[in-house]
Amino acid sequence: MSLKKAYEAYFKMGTSVSERNLSTEEAKRELVLHYNSITAENGMKPMFCLDWKANTENPEKYNSEPALSFESARKYLDFAKETGISLRGHTLVWHNQTPAWFFKKDYSREENAPLADREVMLARLEAYIKGVLGFVQTEYPGVIYAWDVVNEAIEETEENGWRKSLWYQTVGDDFVLQAFRFARKYAAEDVKLFYNDYCTFVPKKREKITELILKPLLKEGVIDGMGMQTHLILKHNELSEYETSLNTFGALGLEIHVTELDIHNADPSEEGEMALALMYEQLFGLYVKVKEEKTANLTSVTFWGMKDDESWLTGFRKEQSYPLLFGENYALKRAYEAVIAVPSKN
Ligand code: G3I
Repeated sequence: MSLKKAYEAYFKMGTSVSERNLSTEEAKRELVLHYNSITAENGMKPMFCLDWKANTENPEKYNSEPALSFESARKYLDFAKETGISLRGHTLVWHNQTPAWFFKKDYSREENAPLADREVMLARLEAYIKGVLGFVQTEYPGVIYAWDVVNEAIEETEENGWRKSLWYQTVGDDFVLQAFRFARKYAAEDVKLFYNDYCTFVPKKREKITELILKPLLKEGVIDGMGMQTHLILKHNELSEYETSLNTFGALGLEIHVTELDIHNADPSEEGEMALALMYEQLFGLYVKVKEEKTANLTSVTFWGMKDDESWLTGFRKEQSYPLLFGENYALKRAYEAVIAVPSKN
């Protein structure tokens, strides 16, 4: 049995992959066995697609049309093309993992250099989106089925909802709309455009995302889907609010992708593993339920990491985390058994 086989009637099953995964035979075998979707964990983000040297050494030439570099992206695209596994593009516009000089006048690397103005940043935004989409669609047509056009623009603690990122500071609060307009303009027709965010189950954040982002984008017809990252914590079981979010976004008529699933669990004992398995079972039960009841058009579920010992959570939470379905050497965990059994119970 494999994850993608178990869920083939419901949605794509995916995982994030690192560059190291793509050069490890064992990881590649697991990828082909279990998944029909992959996401580059880091390697297709702006810090990897922007050519640092060319832009910062020759700012006049590239001022409104940044030089791009696809050395890193090609590794993921090549693997996806060879194996026939679809790729989720992650991510075009993000405040993180985008070099600070990209937002500065003349691509300056000086900390206190002035920011570029709105007009220049809009030109850079359009050229970046056009360049990245143009490259993948010309050289790897059909490989990327969806893009996270904008990632994490809402900060629930901010008074007006908008994260005061360098995109917000330079372009203003229409940067999301502008990004989606450009993405729609340059994306192939069958490529789905997503807004992606974390803590989408928090009521205030759900509301801000809906009002400030999804509704305006839907009105313009430039968005296809909502990406619910789904970085959960075992100790806080927030599944009831999570269900409300799935149904709220679903009711807007958007496609839903679960884009970065993991459940932080610091307890590797039998008890901890059983609790993790139970929460995964509830979560996948919910995914199957919304599909069967047609309350949310969930089409893809992606885990954030292939196995526990590679998860970003250990560094982030400052304690060892065991958040995934696979342990060291891809050992199948109780959580794997629980997830794989859900469809047969329905
Ligand atoms: O590129 C440098 C490398 O040159 C250096 O040698 C190495 C030493 O630590 O660091 C490398 O940068 C790391 C980068 O990943 C690329 O590997 C950073 O330290 C590390 O902090 C960074 O973390 C990534 C994080 O995004 C950055 O915010 C995680 O791996 C990645 O899992 C995580 O993914 C994000 C999603 O894109 C968006 N949603 C949240 C999710 C979790 O934070």
